[in-house]
Amino acid sequence: MTTHGYRTHDCNYLRKIDIGKTVTLAGWVNVTRDHGGVIFIDLRDREGLTQVVFRPEESAELAKRSHSLRSEDVIQVTGRVAPRLPGTENPKLPTGDIEVLPSEMSILNKAHDLPFQIDTDIHNEDLRLTYRYFDLRRPQLARNLRMRHAVTKATRDYLDSQGFIEVETPILSKSTPEGARDFLVPSRLTPGKFYALPQAPQQYKQLLMVGGVEKYFQIAKCFRDEDLRADRQPEFTQIDIEASFVRPEDIYALTEGMLAAIFKAARKIDIKLPFDRLTYREAVGKYGSDKPDRRFGMELVDLGEDFRASSFKVFRGALDAGGVVKAINAKSFALLTIGQSDELTEIAKTFGAKGLAFIKVEGGEWKSPIVKFFSDAEKNALKTKLNVEEGDLILFAADKWEVATEVLGRIRLRIAEMQKLIVDLTKLDFLWVTDFPLLQFSAEENKWNAVHHPFTRPKAEDVALLDEEKFSEVRAEAYDVVLNGVEIGGGSIRIHEPDLQDKMFGVLGISPQDRQSMFGHLLRAFQLGAPPHGGIAMGLDRLVMLVCGEESIRDVMAFPKNNRGMDLMSQSPADVDPRQLRDLGIKLAAGDARAPSGKESPPKK
Ligand code: AMO
Ligand code: AMP
Repeated sequence: MTTHGYRTHDCNYLRKIDIGKTVTLAGWVNVTRDHGGVIFIDLRDREGLTQVVFRPEESAELAKRSHSLRSEDVIQVTGRVAPRLPGTENPKLPTGDIEVLPSEMSILNKAHDLPFQIDTDIHNEDLRLTYRYFDLRRPQLARNLRMRHAVTKATRDYLDSQGFIEVETPILSKSTPEGARDFLVPSRLTPGKFYALPQAPQQYKQLLMVGGVEKYFQIAKCFRDEDLRADRQPEFTQIDIEASFVRPEDIYALTEGMLAAIFKAARKIDIKLPFDRLTYREAVGKYGSDKPDRRFGMELVDLGEDFRASSFKVFRGALDAGGVVKAINAKSFALLTIGQSDELTEIAKTFGAKGLAFIKVEGGEWKSPIVKFFSDAEKNALKTKLNVEEGDLILFAADKWEVATEVLGRIRLRIAEMQKLIVDLTKLDFLWVTDFPLLQFSAEENKWNAVHHPFTRPKAEDVALLDEEKFSEVRAEAYDVVLNGVEIGGGSIRIHEPDLQDKMFGVLGISPQDRQSMFGHLLRAFQLGAPPHGGIAMGLDRLVMLVCGEESIRDVMAFPKNNRGMDLMSQSPADVDPRQLRDLGIKLAAGDARAPSGKESPPKK
């Protein structure tokens, strides 16, 4: 690329063929080296690096000035492209055959003391986030931002090619139950009332379907006040999609086509279509997770049939109580350390197990406190079903289905990390998880909640179960798309009939008055001829993280919050001027940082 103004070329452009040309480059001083009075610098811009060499014999004055150059100074040089001395070429650099010998240099800006060096790996993430504008100069982050652009561009191009239009929906919206806590925005014009930032544009996109848009998408900002993790930010982006007159198959095909276009554009790879499908029961039963990582085996094996009449009370008791006995075989892991073994037991306890029974196969013997209770038939069943061999470690969970599967699922993932079972890091395992349960009982709130959200449609064949109040058995017309054990998207076919929606709100324990005040607009909209509709939302940040091979979504966002939800760069959240609070009619309660304590006089009005 040739450019105008400050430069004739970028720092990744010049090759042997350019030798002899006079060029002007501009960028940052990446590193400087002094070789006996000759100053070598790597000049960096967003495209790459070019070596610039100040030799006293070319210009004594420039060579002298170049001594003052420091890393990250911004400079412009004009000079001649010359071959590097034989033997000093750098084959790792696209511009490694040449160097630029300047005849002019302007220092456009000096850099002061640096918070850290750009070209070293820095592990203090808080420091990086405090100086994020500086951190973004690191080539890895620069590459990630470009990847993200490639992904969003491919998304827009693909969805446009399928007839979808991008529609923006409000950020100042209304508090609705998507499952997380809302971020609230006080209204100055209507004191005492609040907007909520959208957890997702869910209702708006459904209302767009009522509005006849038929094919909507949006690269949408979403806000959720929840506990943060490597793949969770309070503010994140979805590729949000909704369409009318669709069945799940239409959404699967659209999403698969879109992901294929994205991986083609960003990574130049053809992903395998169509994706495998597992029902929720299959996924959780086999992998102990509704977002299974299938890049390694170690599947959960069901032993219910074999231990139904066992004399081992722990197993028999779980089965008698309607639960399950499941096990995994961690191949060649009998010699795990005591630390590892303690950690696995700890995981089991954290996720609700009463214990973690095991068998280690060592020296042809089954070492375990529990095998003495097993009959020969039971031992044989274990041997065949779990393919037990020398060196193996078998781990058991006997509990309710939900607990036993989750415990073994978590342990399975941790053992895979301990044993480094994922060797092929380029492998991409996509799958659909379908037939999620519609409802889930919350013991804490003593009520049924929507697993997905209240607008998700029950499967037609399960609607009768709703009337019979067999809530735990009702399946939803809902699906997630999973990549390498990460839930990258989820969606459903929606309820479009006002009566069914009203019934669903009832099941969720929302009173008739609240239904009107919270969802009156939606119920009314459904009375005006709502088409059948459904959609999906992909977590753009998670998707880009996987496209880039990163482990945290923070590394694919320009200005992320840290894991305590703080923007360390601008020091936000922050105090506000008391006058702003007064305008909003807000008083901080005692105990809050800015609230006046009882002993102090209140701030002067
Ligand atoms: P859901 O809540 O499953 O569905 O969100 C869709 C996808 O968004 C991503 N995601 C997140 N990414 C980063 N940080 C977060 N805090 C976060 N929370 C969710 C996940 C998830 O799969 N309105 C529905 C979609 C629909 O029904 O069409 C919704 O928001 O990758
Ligand atoms: P106990 O009879 O309670 O001493 O348990 C015998 C073994 O079974 C111990 O190794 C426990 O860790 C294990 N254990 C206990 N309860 C369970 C359970 N629900 N699932 C799997 N293992 C268990």
